[in-house]
Amino acid sequence: WLRLQAAAAVLALTAIAGAAHGFEFHEATIDAIQLGFRNGSLTSTALVRFYLDQIGRLNPLLRAVIEDNIATRDALNTTAGSLALLGSVVRRDAGVAARLRRAGAVVLGKSNPSEWSEFRQVDNGWSARGGQTRNPYVLSSDPCGSSAGSGVAAAANMAAVTLGTDTDGSILCPSSFNSVVGIRPTLGLTSRAGVVPITPLQDTVGPICRTLSDAVHVLDAIVGYDELDAAATRVASKFIPPGGYVQFLKKDGLRGKRVGVLRGFFQSYAGTRRLRVYEQHLATMRKHGAMVVDNLHVAANPTALLDDISSNEGIAVVAEFKLSINAYLADLVYSPVRLLADIIAFNNAHPIEERMKDFGQDDLIAAQNTSGIGPVERVAIRRLKELSANGLEKLMKEHQLDAIVTPGSDASSLLATGGHPGIIVPAGFNEQGVPFGICFGGLQGYEPRLIEMAYAFEQATKVRKPPMF
Ligand SMILES: *[C@@H]1O[C@H](CO)[C@@H](O)[C@H](O)[C@H]1NC(C)=O
Ligand SMILES: *[C@@H]1O[C@H](CO)[C@@H](O)[C@H](O)[C@H]1NC(C)=O
Ligand SMILES: *[C@@H]1O[C@H](CO)[C@@H](O)[C@H](O)[C@H]1NC(C)=O
Repeated sequence: WLRLQAAAAVLALTAIAGAAHGFEFHEATIDAIQLGFRNGSLTSTALVRFYLDQIGRLNPLLRAVIEDNIATRDALNTTAGSLALLGSVVRRDAGVAARLRRAGAVVLGKSNPSEWSEFRQVDNGWSARGGQTRNPYVLSSDPCGSSAGSGVAAAANMAAVTLGTDTDGSILCPSSFNSVVGIRPTLGLTSRAGVVPITPLQDTVGPICRTLSDAVHVLDAIVGYDELDAAATRVASKFIPPGGYVQFLKKDGLRGKRVGVLRGFFQSYAGTRRLRVYEQHLATMRKHGAMVVDNLHVAANPTALLDDISSNEGIAVVAEFKLSINAYLADLVYSPVRLLADIIAFNNAHPIEERMKDFGQDDLIAAQNTSGIGPVERVAIRRLKELSANGLEKLMKEHQLDAIVTPGSDASSLLATGGHPGIIVPAGFNEQGVPFGICFGGLQGYEPRLIEMAYAFEQATKVRKPPMF
């Protein structure tokens, strides 16, 4: 994860040296930080020191920070949480890291990831290098992954802002479980160059922050064309509005919007506090001028649709992963492993550290067993396009929706497999005190209106409470 000290490189010059007077570090927003730099109550040094102290104090408990999958050409390792990549040397900063540094950011550390990002199918925020990441609200609860550390670090004020990477749910899910805002941008809006890959068809990088405003400031800093991820970023850069995204932080952003409720996704919460809270939120959206179109279904049988997506996604992802990870490893200046086969061999040679008994590496072995994008993969990729076109895209056009709303990251596959964006906003806490979010999803390029709706919703509800230790 990265801490964005927005425009600090310039503004810090005018800041008064010495201790911060009257600056409230806890829950500080980018706007407050910039004001603090301007009015002399904050220095860049004091801010960095605060976050380093937070990391020092909280990381032994939360294990949010190690070094993960966004390349930085500095002393930080880029390992995707895996011991296999320890000591590997990247050629350059990842595209998004370079953009953040140009905006004045100081990179303090990287998130403890889980799942594929650390080369195993671990689902509970565990990585070989970082151990178990914990949810700062309920320590025994899953913080969700794979950008687990980013969600936790943002929630627990261990950074001003963080980035996550998402193939299918990895930004949305940890944002939901840690009561923070996550933006999964349209595919290609942000560069994937220098990010440890899973599949170019779905990978995207986006902000995870305490407020929507902060997330949008970060989004503005990281979007844009990158010659090292040329095809995708060229296509998506046409979506970037002149003047950027901050202009869409509108308090009345729900007014006149058509918001579709995908009822199938809410059914599993029947009888829970969570569903009651979601119903109140729908009422709040109506009160703020949204036209809530209820009882929509993305398919006659949503479970069958999700199964269909998931099996085709699986076929495409394993083949794409082998190609992408081998290309990533080949491009490193130095690496102890150069091929997916080396990672598999490394895991086999280090069964204790990698907890092979608990987690195995079936997905890696399945990926290794593929040989490029052949007829089977092409059929699967085409099927995913059809499912998206006849599912979410058709529904949204038919009902002229500005967004669909769904619980947490439950609809992430609908968005991810179509390259569509989604924004998670904190929505409540369940009976056990575990946070959950609500997702505003849209079609490619819908970021401006999703930001309008998500911001208006956030300002109307103000659900986020910092975790209490
Ligand atoms: C400076 O700005 C911060 C907000 O970032 C505020 O908390 C503080 O009170 C301000 N101090 C002065 C002297 O205006
Ligand atoms: C990166 O990994 C090396 C081991 O290869 C370790 O010595 C070093 O401390 C790590 N860097 C950081 C910043 O933790
Ligand atoms: C390897 O791929 C072949 C088809 O190419 C398949 O029949 C076999 O089950 C696969 N094995 C594994 C371990 O995935």
